[in-house]
Amino acid sequence: AMESGVARLPITDWEAYEHELKERIGIDQKLMSRITTQAKRDPKTVVFAEADNYKILKAAQIVQEQRIATPILLGNPERIKAIIKENNMDLYGALIIDPLAETEEARKEEYAQILYKKRQRKGITLYDARRLMRDRNYFGSMMLHNGEADALISGLTRDYSKTISPALQVIGVEEGINKVAGMYIVLGQKEPYFFADTTVNVNPSADELVDIIGLTARTVRFFDQEPRVAMLSFSNFGSVRGDIPDKGAEAVRKAKQRYPDLLIDGEMQANTALNKNLLRENYPFSELAEKGANTLVFPTLTSGNIAYKLLQEIGGVEVIGPVLMGMRKPVHILQLGSSVRDIVNMVAIAVVDAQNYNNQHI
Ligand code: ACO
Repeated sequence: AMESGVARLPITDWEAYEHELKERIGIDQKLMSRITTQAKRDPKTVVFAEADNYKILKAAQIVQEQRIATPILLGNPERIKAIIKENNMDLYGALIIDPLAETEEARKEEYAQILYKKRQRKGITLYDARRLMRDRNYFGSMMLHNGEADALISGLTRDYSKTISPALQVIGVEEGINKVAGMYIVLGQKEPYFFADTTVNVNPSADELVDIIGLTARTVRFFDQEPRVAMLSFSNFGSVRGDIPDKGAEAVRKAKQRYPDLLIDGEMQANTALNKNLLRENYPFSELAEKGANTLVFPTLTSGNIAYKLLQEIGGVEVIGPVLMGMRKPVHILQLGSSVRDIVNMVAIAVVDAQNYNNQHI
């Protein structure tokens, strides 16, 4: 039941949260409280696939108390109730569903038939589909697919790639989107920064980077910010040639054509992107020279994933995510070992995403 990292207390009070942020890292950020306020206007049902877990239950309790979301808890009811009792928690009448219970057989059979229809030409037999429905990530994804819940949160206890696969197979990508990608929000002493792809695509091609750039820009706008995108590399504007710099430069050329209203430039190094004096002095021709970037797109998952984790551990910033972008319905796969606060943040984001699903979303 211990939280990892710096004083990551579960928040029960958003003023206290903002105060703590200000005290701890000297920042005055309204981004998350704005999202939470918005979530409370029209709370949605959120499935927690790993509800037999203290942190998940604590987060579920907080979002229920704060009327951010209506939790649906997947797992063994005896275990869930035991954890609730042991920790003196109160989850009022939160719905608990045990995919292994006999009473769920009919629902599982219905889900299995749907999965089988979807994936019968992708190597899934009906027997496989029935077996997979015992897995809470498949079961929860199917609830979302069927409109029995509005959002899904999972991934706290299992490897990211194993958790995202069922969601990709059952829910899949939004129409018109080729690749889903993951974003982190970095709250520091200045404006919010947005990092992508930090979680999904191992080595995106130039065209895939163009997709990721478009998806990320849309999500930055979801958070009420105007994206200023830098395509990152170890080189500045062709100073070094090679696979990574070249694909970055190509992605920027294509992104400028595909998104004519988007402020984007690169490829460039991270300090060039963030330091507008450096940009102005050395690359005055750059579209970002006036304000610098607030949105960093990484050339590979290696660089994006390592960059945000370093910031998260070395500190001085609050890191929010991973925000999964481009899914057909709101699904967010937590980072292994996320804190209660991280989970609450992701639930609030998922609820606002669900509210806006026909409009501006993630
Ligand atoms: N966007 C959209 N669809 C995708 C994507 C994507 N980025 N990746 C795969 N798919 C599709 C697949 O093509 C497949 O399509 P199908 O219907 O034709 O079968 C479908 O989604 C299901 O994919 P799977 O077979 O389950 O998975 P796949 O082997 O394609 O791998 C995965 C996808 C799991 C995302 C893989 O690329 C991966 O492991 N990425 C790295 C994840 C990771 O380890 N991240 C770092 C840690 S995250 C953290 O630190 C918080």
